[in-house]
Amino acid sequence: MAKKIIKVSGARAQANIARVYEAKQDHVFRFWDELSEEESQILLEQIEDIDYQLLHSLVQKFVLSSEPTRSFKTIAPPDVIKIPKTPKAHDYAEHARTVGEEALREGRIGLFLVAGGQASRLGFEGPKGAYPIGPVTGKPFFQIYAERIQALRKKYKTELPWFIMTSEENDEATKDFFQKNSYFGLSRADVTFVRQKMIPAVDKRGKLILIEKNRIFRNPNGHGGALQAMRDHNVIDTCRSAGITDLYYFQVDNILARIADPVFAGYHLLEKAELSVKVVAKKDPSERVGVIGFIDGALGVIEYSDMSPKDLDAREPDGSLSYNAGNSAIHLINIDFVDRITIDGSNLPYHRALKKIPYINRQGEKVTPKEPNGIKFETFIFDALRQARSSVLMEVVREDEFSPVKNDTGDDSPATAKRDLINLFGCWLEACNVKIPRDADGNVEGKIEISPLTAMNPGELAKELPEDFVFDGNLGL
Ligand code: UD1
Repeated sequence: MAKKIIKVSGARAQANIARVYEAKQDHVFRFWDELSEEESQILLEQIEDIDYQLLHSLVQKFVLSSEPTRSFKTIAPPDVIKIPKTPKAHDYAEHARTVGEEALREGRIGLFLVAGGQASRLGFEGPKGAYPIGPVTGKPFFQIYAERIQALRKKYKTELPWFIMTSEENDEATKDFFQKNSYFGLSRADVTFVRQKMIPAVDKRGKLILIEKNRIFRNPNGHGGALQAMRDHNVIDTCRSAGITDLYYFQVDNILARIADPVFAGYHLLEKAELSVKVVAKKDPSERVGVIGFIDGALGVIEYSDMSPKDLDAREPDGSLSYNAGNSAIHLINIDFVDRITIDGSNLPYHRALKKIPYINRQGEKVTPKEPNGIKFETFIFDALRQARSSVLMEVVREDEFSPVKNDTGDDSPATAKRDLINLFGCWLEACNVKIPRDADGNVEGKIEISPLTAMNPGELAKELPEDFVFDGNLGL
């Protein structure tokens, strides 16, 4: 193809265009002559934002080479602080709680929510946090979290600043949503949005993909992008000047997230850990979740698909699974650690995922592929575990703390999340001596939703319930 002449004014734009040619990605200018001034400006901004060196190395590694990208020699199970069963373990957990509560009261903990991902599997238009998940009220995730935060602020008389990571795809919509809803009772100053970076995907030949005549397909750079976003958006300095040493990290889709759990914070602080993680026991050996473990001696997540049937079913002397530390993606992250590992730019490895990526063909027509046609690149926060000098892995009860919404229907869907939330509230009510009807599977029959502003645990709920309270199948408090 003859080299197209792209006329632009300004040395910067010219240099950017030269880089595109150098990277042999000049097909992105195929429709240049049809673009308005405004449209071409958008394309120019996009090409400026691309790290061509990184793109080149990713294409070499993941697209043009057939080497296996994920291989290891050995794996080994990690040490996990188990759910306390002995008096000694209970005492240590209580000690951790005291330490964590002190840190909360002293304002040493901040909150970091990752909400930059695409809600594509859920089939929901808009930020995932705006999804109406409250089983009785239809409150969105964001509101439920905001109310938990308000309750914690009140309880610990602390500020608990909340950082929310968004991406180009949902930043504006997320901010609008908070604004329209008056920050769900928080003040504007309590919430800081940080926008993660985007990274282009490529087709199977390593070429950038045009999704419109002037737009290159790009996706958020994975939740691992949180670390670089913390540096890029001064989260590190903001925390330091506010006296915050550690961030409580959680995902937008886990309706049971126990935000700022003092016990977890306590363990993390007592161990002087840099990156800690809450884990949940696998439902069974074949559950398709990644587990935390040592990979060639370094802590990380072992993907289900990388484990042999023998390892999947390996057992400890007490009969429990050896590789049982399912990743809940709830972390505590030390600020000095973030500073240390991002000082020279994020060095987290990229992972590839083969996906169906809509594109425009040579005729400029939109095509929705039926088969995967492109490769997305992402980094994962848990890959930083190997760089942490110390980590705490704390097991939690899945039913109390982990029920993510990933899919439209079936497992990990809004239906299962609502069910799990209702079941949790059902247990709280039972702890208050209220009779709760349950079906053959043990699920509560009826709907319950308790605002965090009313109660955060059974003890607080008991104070709110009339003495002769009877559950009639529908309760919103
Ligand atoms: C992830 C973990 C899995 C863990 C599960 C718990 C991976 C590969 N797997 O699953 O081990 O058990 O969470 O729920 O990570 N996000 C961003 N920016 C991005 C990408 C994601 O902010 O660029 C956020 C999402 O908004 C969401 C969270 O990260 O809050 C998880 O993203 P998602 O892609 O749903 O993770 P999973 O692959 O489902």
